[in-house]
Amino acid sequence: MGKTIDIAIVGCGGMAGAHLNGYEELLRGGERRFRIVAAVDEVKEGADAFAQRLHDSVGFDVKTFTSVDKLLNSGLHIDGADICSPHGLHHVLSCQLLAGGVNVLCEKPIGVTVKASKKIAAMAKKTGLVAATAEQCRRSIGQRTIHWAFNDGLLGQPRMWWAIAASWRDPAQVGGWHWRIDRKLGGCGMVMDSGAHWVDTMRYWFGEVDSVYARVEQIYDRPHQKGDRLVNSTQEDFWTCIFNFASGLIGTWSWTISAPGKGFTQLTMAGTKGSLIDSDIFHPAAFQARGEAQLLDGTSYNMEKLQQMYQETLSSRKRNQLFPYGITGGVTLELWDFIDALSKGRPVEIDVEEGLRSKAVSEAVYESGKSGDVVKVKDVLSGKVNAYQKDVDRMWKL
Ligand SMILES: NC(=O)c1ccc[n+]([C@@H]2O[C@H](COP(=O)([O-])OP(=O)(O)OC[C@H]3O[C@@H](n4cnc5c(N)ncnc54)[C@H](O)[C@@H]3O)[C@@H](O)[C@H]2O)c1
Repeated sequence: MGKTIDIAIVGCGGMAGAHLNGYEELLRGGERRFRIVAAVDEVKEGADAFAQRLHDSVGFDVKTFTSVDKLLNSGLHIDGADICSPHGLHHVLSCQLLAGGVNVLCEKPIGVTVKASKKIAAMAKKTGLVAATAEQCRRSIGQRTIHWAFNDGLLGQPRMWWAIAASWRDPAQVGGWHWRIDRKLGGCGMVMDSGAHWVDTMRYWFGEVDSVYARVEQIYDRPHQKGDRLVNSTQEDFWTCIFNFASGLIGTWSWTISAPGKGFTQLTMAGTKGSLIDSDIFHPAAFQARGEAQLLDGTSYNMEKLQQMYQETLSSRKRNQLFPYGITGGVTLELWDFIDALSKGRPVEIDVEEGLRSKAVSEAVYESGKSGDVVKVKDVLSGKVNAYQKDVDRMWKL
């Protein structure tokens, strides 16, 4: 059965709420190898509300803290921390917890920059503890099915794909300032925020990206209310990029919220034997795999049928490993992976190094957008190309 894992939630905001739903789903499914024993948030009421919810829903006795320091100094036994904080704090909190002997599961993007992500990787190596990237999309049944459809031959060798989402968000609608807009805490725009899901997914389906050419722009000023001032964000409201994969596959990814009129989305992925086509998606980054496969001979399969075909190929051992308790939602599965890995002492599926490789691809998009050059992902990973990230590294003294 493995040992029981004591978990602390660190950062009790929006995404931590989704994690709580996942933990509750695991308990309902019958998973008993974990307990949530602590909730940490700099806003005490946030941590208290989480503790109360867990007490009311599953009877856990959850201690609350206003900092990781206080948690580590409390003497409370913690095996793993689930970090759902602003991006800029990912490396700070992860390194603190790892140094304090606690394994970590950290929300995407793993670090605020490549350097920050490497800091987590180095600390994980030094301590020999698990540092996992919380990335759910590739784990869901839709993404697993598409991986199978391309990698087991149904659609043949993948050759090209297009992912496009165009919509309109009126720049005159001023939002409140938020950590996501803040360069130090957020570090990025949507290329790397919800875009992190797409980058992880495309690497999972199609392998490593060799180089990127991108335009990343702010078409309209996008001001936010900060105190009594209006401050423009530096975030992109448009990007378009070409990915050259090591395999020779070509990918084209475009997104904007600055196209007036009726929005549209389109995702088409073409292999040598057929294509996967989906025009009913909210955002390519959050692609939920609702399209259909169309083969050269005219056969087509809707996503439900494809998922059924995929599941029929799975041994019961593999099925239990990928979809324990019959769960098919990515967030719950990422939590289960962390718990199962700690409980059995096995590696997680998406560790910090894997998160770092995705991070480098997202940063390559920004780096290319800044320089206008075709950027090699290996140069971003090595730190040779870092003009876009330099100011954030400086702010965090990295
Ligand atoms: N996987 C997904 O689909 C998904 C979706 C949304 C957000 N996220 C990620 O989750 C993370 C959190 O995003 P969110 O939307 O929940 O933000 P949020 O602002 O709702 O929550 C962040 C929480 O962290 C707390 N916090 C700030 N500094 C802290 C500190 N030093 N110690 C402890 N707590 C601190 C804040 O008080 C807040 O409660 C980000 O990495 C984000 O990218 C992932």
